[in-house]
Amino acid sequence: MIRECILTTVCATGDPHIAPLGIIARGEEAGAGWTIAPFHPSTTLTNLRQTGIAVANYTDDVLIFAGCLTGRRDWPLLPVGGYPVPRLAGALAHDVLVVDALEDDEIRPRFHCRVAASGQHAPFEGMNRARAAVLELAILVSRLHMLPPDKIAAEIAYLSIAVDKTAGPRERLAWDWLMARVADHAGG
Ligand SMILES: Cc1cc2nc3c(=O)[nH]c(=O)nc-3n(C[C@H](O)[C@H](O)[C@H](O)COP(=O)(O)O)c2cc1C
Repeated sequence: MIRECILTTVCATGDPHIAPLGIIARGEEAGAGWTIAPFHPSTTLTNLRQTGIAVANYTDDVLIFAGCLTGRRDWPLLPVGGYPVPRLAGALAHDVLVVDALEDDEIRPRFHCRVAASGQHAPFEGMNRARAAVLELAILVSRLHMLPPDKIAAEIAYLSIAVDKTAGPRERLAWDWLMARVADHAGG
């Protein structure tokens, strides 16, 4: 099972970095931990190697996912007591992930983590199809360089149905930010 989150990390001198990442469940039972698998090269990967700690921020605000993929990474952060890595102020909940073991790999190293601490901050208010569609578009945008144009067009045509029917203003803005990136890619 993969949980899509916004991962916060810090570099050796403490500067924070945020990026959307899917964390992979290490086992079926609760508390078995999570594996973080960043592709090489990335800031998240460098930070994890240097510090061995991350915060997984759980949020249903797809504007943050879309923002991170479109150069808008300046989302408010808050300190997490007892740990050097901040959390997203807008997170509904978070887990502090501490690296127990590194499975090194030239393409995609795997950091196996335990949950060292957790926090709950706001209620989850239910599922929304447009949010799910924006999340899918975010993943598509992060892979534009690997996908053929007809596949991109077909996926967008399908995902746009849910956005047209069920989006609020935040989901529409997130969709527009990502679609601008798709247009740039097609134009370039
Ligand atoms: C929902 C979602 C899940 C993602 N999961 C991963 C992942 O597991 N590994 C990865 O390397 N990139 C993943 N990405 C792409 C990263 O967010 C993107 O490459 C990011 O810029 C990481 O690089 P950075 O640490 O240098 O910012 C994902 C993107 C999205 C939208």
